Amino acid sequence: TAKFLKDYRAPEYLIERVDLCFDVFDGHTAVTAVMRVLPQTGAGAMRLHGSAELLGISVDGRRLPESAYRLANEVLTLDGTPAQPFELTVQTKLYPHDNTTLMGLYQSGGNLYTQCEPEGFRKITFHPDRPDVMSIYTTEIRADKARFPVLLANGNRTDGGDLPNGRHFAVWHDPFAKPSYLFALVAGDLSCTRDSFRAADGREIAIEFYTRAADADKVAFAVQSLKHAMKWDESRFGLVYDLDIYMVVAVGDFNMGAMENKGLNIFNTKYVLADARTATDADFDGVESVIAHEYFHNWTGNRVTCRDWFQLSLKEGLTVFRDQEFSADRNSRAVRRIHNAAFLRRHQFPEDAGPMAHPIRPASYVEMNNFYTMTVYEKGAEVVRMYHTLLGEDGFQKGMKLYFQRHDGQAVTCDDFRAAMADANGVDLSQFALWYSQAGTPVLDVSGSLRDNGDYVLRVRQTVPPTPDMVEKQPMMMPLKTALLDENGDAVRFRLPENGADTAETVLLLTEAEQEFVLQGVNRAVTPSLLRGFSAPVRLNFPYTDQQLALLLAHDDDPFARWEAGQTLYRRAVAANETALADNAPLPDHAALFAALEHVVRADIDPAFKAVLLTPPAEEELWRASDIDPVRLHHAREALLDALARHFAEDWLPLNLQAKTAEEALPDCYAYSPEAAAWRSLRNLCRSMMLRAAPAEQLEYVFEHYDEMAQNMSHEWGLLNAVNHIDDPRRDALLARFAEKFADQALVLDKYFALIACSRRADTPQCVREALSHPAFAPTNPNKVRALLGTFARNHLHLHAADGAGYRFIAERVRETDVLNPQTAADLVRAAFSLCCRLEPHRRALMKSELEKLAALPELSKDTREIVEKILAG
Ligand code: ARG
Ligand code: ZN
Repeated sequence: TAKFLKDYRAPEYLIERVDLCFDVFDGHTAVTAVMRVLPQTGAGAMRLHGSAELLGISVDGRRLPESAYRLANEVLTLDGTPAQPFELTVQTKLYPHDNTTLMGLYQSGGNLYTQCEPEGFRKITFHPDRPDVMSIYTTEIRADKARFPVLLANGNRTDGGDLPNGRHFAVWHDPFAKPSYLFALVAGDLSCTRDSFRAADGREIAIEFYTRAADADKVAFAVQSLKHAMKWDESRFGLVYDLDIYMVVAVGDFNMGAMENKGLNIFNTKYVLADARTATDADFDGVESVIAHEYFHNWTGNRVTCRDWFQLSLKEGLTVFRDQEFSADRNSRAVRRIHNAAFLRRHQFPEDAGPMAHPIRPASYVEMNNFYTMTVYEKGAEVVRMYHTLLGEDGFQKGMKLYFQRHDGQAVTCDDFRAAMADANGVDLSQFALWYSQAGTPVLDVSGSLRDNGDYVLRVRQTVPPTPDMVEKQPMMMPLKTALLDENGDAVRFRLPENGADTAETVLLLTEAEQEFVLQGVNRAVTPSLLRGFSAPVRLNFPYTDQQLALLLAHDDDPFARWEAGQTLYRRAVAANETALADNAPLPDHAALFAALEHVVRADIDPAFKAVLLTPPAEEELWRASDIDPVRLHHAREALLDALARHFAEDWLPLNLQAKTAEEALPDCYAYSPEAAAWRSLRNLCRSMMLRAAPAEQLEYVFEHYDEMAQNMSHEWGLLNAVNHIDDPRRDALLARFAEKFADQALVLDKYFALIACSRRADTPQCVREALSHPAFAPTNPNKVRALLGTFARNHLHLHAADGAGYRFIAERVRETDVLNPQTAADLVRAAFSLCCRLEPHRRALMKSELEKLAALPELSKDTREIVEKILAG
């Protein structure tokens, strides 16, 4: 049942127009789709995708007898349709209240919503549901006026009015041809927040945000974010919005973050609703970037879309790159870049090193929903960023311009994008295509030496590791941004042999398995600053001494490279702890690391930058290639954090005070702003360090003063995370008070469940099990499942309990969830079990036996089965 990129064939039937009518009733919704079909030359029998209850099919108004069509595996084959354009009418019956998959048309809180990407439209009607079939859609919705006062679909509202029996209707027309995955409909009782935006061409764009009435007071930030994104896309990319109205609808039951349906975005409430009482600074950041992401899709995704789902990164990688750049322009660019790099290494590198490894353009899939991955999105964005690094902002924008000139209104491939970048700049990017077909994180082994003539030579060896889909790999083209520091940490200028230009920084172009680069006129001992700005998504090794790393950490003027020097010191320290733990030896004193961090603690730098410099890599970044003992690694990292907390025990309080004073000096200081958020990120780091250094006193203090310390959700979240691991009834009391205070706030209760599930306390597995019967927990709600079970799946101390209880618990939950929502179940399997083949033998066997039991279930969804079987094969 796998589909392959190499099997792509152009569609045999195009659909010029789709006219839909949805008749919403209490127990069901009746759908009529009238399609203008254009058979292409040489077309065979017409095949439609569909899984809805089929009531009837007509061709040019004549009803087909059942003998004229066959349905197998959700493909409907029609015999004897005309070779000339014709009208196809399909009638289906849907049961949205029973649809727990949250794909197609479903009910949430009494309202109706759709999710069609990638293949949800076939749950609504029978249609050639593939992105290269683009049509003009008109949608009529009829429903009870009292229960469903709001009726929305894509485009502009062209008609509406009352019907008999207390019903009403609305008609929406979208003038832009689009693929079926961008179709959307919403019907319900929702409150609307209006605003508007004056576009660069002078048009006034209406903005409408729809939420439950109780949530309407939390949309102001998202509305502002949208306006900022609209402005930014005009000024940075020259892209202007094309419809007269832009709508965003927030829904609490949603599989993903959000969906860019033309003119009618549908969002997880998590990425729309935010106020300082209920959302952390990180949540505000998330709202701003997802609102921008979906808006940016209007050009990169909707106006130019994907030919087939293998090309998903064409729109997702590019749009993530665009939202990253937007966030970087709005906040501290340096800290953003570090967050992006750390996120990729924590979440995508393990994917690329495991059984699910795939290139950013996968060669095959069983269930497309399983390929909305960290690789397609985040590595895809890094690949787009490499064009930007190689071509510069001007060259990149030239490429974008040519891309839209050539492909506006089309469904295209990643090769078309690469060709636009190459042709607009007159460069050869054919080798760059390997980024789209080779999986695995490349490794750069670099060494350097000073020649007698004063030249500095960098030798770079590039290897792309084997992945389950491919063993032999070719060297890739990538930019390696490089500078040199002298012994004082000052930049050393050098000349490039190819043009003799004198410079302090250069982008070396890697193309071969082994390459030598000569930097001329250096004439002194230097420390290279490599992979500046994280110029390629790779692992880089250079035989630095601890002193060299300390020098880079203190002086490198590239924020990423400076941070990375510290991360390397942390990695060495955790590895030393791990060895000591394995040998039952005393832990090392980490003198070199702590000496290097002295500078950081006292440096006069952006507080958010200071906070990331004082944070070691996440556990996922520290896993070795194989034979992993996640629990020992966890203890090794925790021991380092404890030592760090104690070493600087005298510093956290004054640092926290400095941050508090700075935060409180800001106007409206407890509201979200990048500056306030930066100070609070440092405060929360200090709080967790103080609690590590002296848990008893600190807990006492927090317990007594919680209400005055907790001025907004960022403070609450910081405090609760800091106390969350302490085995003391006062911690339980704080959590219980928190849940009570926010009993009516679904998104805050997600935080409560996440706190329970991420705790290091011994009773966590039991508390997670008890939380399953908490009245606010719902196995049908993906946010709740992710908060409680997704978080537990990333709690390596408890998931990887040596007796296998953690694995058993998750496997049970997967079984229950799979029946309701296969996508959420598949995600849970991926989160909990992807590490299987890299684990030490004892845990590997335990995890494997749970996976085998899942694989043996005959009714397992294809979503979950694909992941389970890939892990077992890995
Ligand atoms: N295109 C959406 C976005 O990136 C994601 C939708 C994915 N949906 C899914 N069911 N897999 O913003
Ligand atoms: Zn997207």
